Amino acid sequence: MSVIREGIGFEWLTGPSRVGPDLQDELAVCWGEVANAGGAVGFPFLPVEREQVYRAVTELVNSLDPRGAQLLVAHEGGSLLGWLLLTLNTNSVVAHWARVTRVQTSLAARASGVGRALMAEVARAAREDHRLEQLHLELRAGQGLEGFYESCGWKEIGRWPNALRLGVGSDRDEVLMLLSL
Ligand SMILES: CC(C)(COP(=O)(O)OP(=O)(O)OC[C@H]1O[C@@H](n2cnc3c(N)ncnc32)[C@H](O)[C@@H]1OP(=O)(O)O)[C@@H](O)C(=O)NCCC(=O)NCCS
Repeated sequence: MSVIREGIGFEWLTGPSRVGPDLQDELAVCWGEVANAGGAVGFPFLPVEREQVYRAVTELVNSLDPRGAQLLVAHEGGSLLGWLLLTLNTNSVVAHWARVTRVQTSLAARASGVGRALMAEVARAAREDHRLEQLHLELRAGQGLEGFYESCGWKEIGRWPNALRLGVGSDRDEVLMLLSL
């Protein structure tokens, strides 16, 4: 049964100066906890250390650009519930689509509709604000994530078999997902 969570606020942050120290801390805490709980968010080898996550947050924040990487945060009552990154393409050959990465919700906010609300907002922004035709996303097979994205309207369009080597004898497919806008 679908859960619709009321009262979620969204914010798009499109430059480093838009992300203050408090939000950087919240992003790092969320990212570290999600990764250490086994989430597929770019830290395959666990546990991930605090310093490593803070470095990644600094890199991500410095990469923000109104014509490139844009950070979407979901919050409620001043607390971070979840976030994702949308990266636009500047090359005209591929400028009609963009890539979604780092989709995650805080452990405390799980299964209350925040993930689906993030995916609805990124689709809205891509369609209405950026006039895009497609969104692309890659995911790690074996964690049931395909079902989550399919429930948000995405389709699996292929996979790179055993492309992700997470350890000895632990290869996973990389699944390619598409949202037609
Ligand atoms: C995937 C994720 C973002 C979903 O967020 P969420 O806030 O729990 O999602 P929602 O509450 O909006 O759930 C929406 C639906 O997807 C389902 N769902 C959520 N996570 C799922 C998962 N990992 N596998 C399968 N289904 C899932 C929920 O049961 C719910 O279904 P329903 O509406 O029919 O009840 C969250 O589980 C997460 O942060 N995972 C770890 C990070 C990660 O692996 N990200 C993926 C990067 S590719």
